[in-house]
Amino acid sequence: MDRYAVMGNPIAHSLSPRIHGMFARQTGQDLSYEAILVPVGGFAAALRQFIVEGGRGLNVTVPFKGEAWALADRRSARAERAGAVNTLIVGEAGTTLGENTDGIGLIRDLSVNLDYPLTDRRILVVGAGGAVRGVLQPLLEAGPAALIVANRTVSRAHALRELFAGFGPVEARGFDALGEQSFDLIVNGTSAGIRGEVPALPPASVGPQTLCYDMFYAPTPTAFVRWARAQGAGRAVDGLGMLVEQAAESFRLWRGVRPETGPVIQALRD
Ligand code: ATR
Repeated sequence: MDRYAVMGNPIAHSLSPRIHGMFARQTGQDLSYEAILVPVGGFAAALRQFIVEGGRGLNVTVPFKGEAWALADRRSARAERAGAVNTLIVGEAGTTLGENTDGIGLIRDLSVNLDYPLTDRRILVVGAGGAVRGVLQPLLEAGPAALIVANRTVSRAHALRELFAGFGPVEARGFDALGEQSFDLIVNGTSAGIRGEVPALPPASVGPQTLCYDMFYAPTPTAFVRWARAQGAGRAVDGLGMLVEQAAESFRLWRGVRPETGPVIQALRD
């Protein structure tokens, strides 16, 4: 039986084994998928052992996506620019190809599941860490009218603007320079939600037409989703759909078949 896994720290509450288990049953694929807790500093050794034991593919989550990027033998162009790898495909000789499916996952959740095409939208992306870097290229390629990266530490937003300026109309700001304008879409890509915090955005950023999207997911409404609803956002959703969609793209890369995500998202919500 082909072996797959997700490595991270913490990992106990990862939904990935359930998601990939449902994908495997749905598509009739014979595989195993487990969650592996890896000590900080121990990723390279855990990856080597996984490959030696015959592992076929790996998902990588916090805090190892940067290390996975550095350790991959080859990287797709998109993963190269994302600076992070969330999917490793193990080849015949034990060599690894690094991919990043987070951006595709976000775009598919927005454009397909939420029926929200991104063309000509005014988008605010909040945060400038690894999570945001991983999704900027696909967001810009979706053709927005404007995409503003706002970060608490403004210099990091400017660094991302430099890196992605060739892909579309990207600007960089601090929170206090956002002014009174509201946006069509606000994507929260900060790690603030892990501590139950919300980035200090001007309330005017949210209007009745705004879709607020939290890349973070938790079983109860996230701090950002609660904040967005309190500001009167038209819609506020968490990152469960993105999680399932990035998993589906990983599954497709490994197995050559793309599972149906709708029933899996529904089962997890229930
Ligand atoms: P990740 O790889 O998850 O993106 P990261 O590189 O540490 O992690 O980046 C975390 C992001 O969340 C950063 O944009 C950080 O802002 P700073 O660059 O100013 O540190 C942002 N962040 C974390 N907590 C936040 C908070 N309470 N308010 C606003 N932004 C926050």
